[in-house]
Amino acid sequence: MPATCVIGLQWGDEAKGKIVDFLTAQNEIVVRYQGGANAGHTVAFDGKKYKLSLIPSGIFRPEIRSCIASGVVVDPESILGEIARLRESGVEIEKNLFISDRAHVIFPWHKEEDRLMNDAGVRSEAIGTTGRGIGPCYRDKVGRASAIRIGDLYRADFPEKVRKIVALKNNALPGLAKNDEVRATVRPLDAEKIIADYSKYAEQLRPFVGDVVDYLLDAVDADKKVLLEGAQGSMLDVDYGTYPYVTSSNSSGVGVCAGSGLPATFIKRIVGIIKAYTTRVGGGPFPTELNNEIGQRIRDQGNEYGTVTKRPRRCGWFDAVAVRYAARLAGATELSVMLLDVLSGFDEINICVGYKLDGERVEHFPSDVDALARVEPIYETRPGWKEDITQVKTYEDLPENAKSYLARLSEVVGKPISFVSVGPGREQTIVLR
Ligand code: GDP
Ligand code: IMO
Ligand code: MG
Repeated sequence: MPATCVIGLQWGDEAKGKIVDFLTAQNEIVVRYQGGANAGHTVAFDGKKYKLSLIPSGIFRPEIRSCIASGVVVDPESILGEIARLRESGVEIEKNLFISDRAHVIFPWHKEEDRLMNDAGVRSEAIGTTGRGIGPCYRDKVGRASAIRIGDLYRADFPEKVRKIVALKNNALPGLAKNDEVRATVRPLDAEKIIADYSKYAEQLRPFVGDVVDYLLDAVDADKKVLLEGAQGSMLDVDYGTYPYVTSSNSSGVGVCAGSGLPATFIKRIVGIIKAYTTRVGGGPFPTELNNEIGQRIRDQGNEYGTVTKRPRRCGWFDAVAVRYAARLAGATELSVMLLDVLSGFDEINICVGYKLDGERVEHFPSDVDALARVEPIYETRPGWKEDITQVKTYEDLPENAKSYLARLSEVVGKPISFVSVGPGREQTIVLR
């Protein structure tokens, strides 16, 4: 049975968590394959809301195995907090959660480096990271010398490894501070405390840890139905996003195989998740951003505040140039349009259908972030709708202007729409195909 992927096609927070939970019902295994505790996914059903960060959004279906694959960077303290909160809510995880022994571990030095580097001022604008140590952990993974994987936590040489890394990091960290004032805030890391804390975390995680890729390859052979859950969004991809204002993993479609270990030939359905408008958290260019009362209205109606950092999300009109690029990069077979209800009540709604760059119309997404910062969006204006659509169950029952907006989105992105979401609940999902 082929696998299905869920990929965010914008700058994250497209409501991937909701669709993963929805599609889990048709699958047997759910796999989170990149990113870390920088992600914040919200799943709502039966009048309750659950926030997830590292644990796959499929965890609420007890019959499903939820895997964290090798491409993820795991913060043990953070995942144990999530496990405790899920247990308190009565969610069954004991038999379902499976964490790769190949996944890399986030340590306190990664968070400290994240804080110091984000502050370093080598760029004109800060990346505005989530501060979860994501970039430094992926850098150590690729650098190899000072990296620790989940499986290493159980090795006899773990304490010695931590002592050596801490000695190196205690030398290096003060040098990352941008000035003496920041340097004075850098506290030396205590290797023995880290060893004690992480040995305790390792014991608590032990029942969940194993060889996930081996399990997944067996699942492929056994024709199991697998759902792959992307975190962040395509425009935050370290290779193909708005570099350097990106995250440190391949969060576009290109990251699925590397992060999960599953062969590309197995992946047949790729669902691109889009908001009916655009949001972004953190720094970096955002061509359709609305720094005005319309942007604030979208923020208020969509409750656009970060799940992880609570920062107000930057809001703007739908950017078809960016989404068309991300959908092609992912090889999206279809789209899921989320938060359509948030646009109810606007007289007019804009879609960015092209960019003007240095006086010339361009249809492609610029590779250079400075060029992207200079583009002016070319808008097409569509009539809005006044009706509350949050209880609408079928495409036919949507207001005519909402239907024509969706049809135009599909046309400019170049992909068919399979799902339309009109509210956070499971039942507020319209299935088109
Ligand atoms: P993710 O990171 O892509 O999983 O998205 P987030 O969970 O960070 O952000 C999406 C937010 O929108 C969450 O608070 C969801 O509960 C909410 N949400 C999801 N779908 C809809 C929808 O169709 N309408 C509205 N109004 N909210 C939605
Ligand atoms: P989900 O999975 C939105 C952004 C940060 C910052 C940049 C780099 O909920 O969609 P990092 O901490 O990863 O080094 O920060 O990426 N970012 C996200 N924005 N949703 C996310 O995840 C994000 N994860 C990281 O705001 O601009
Ligand atoms: Mg989110």
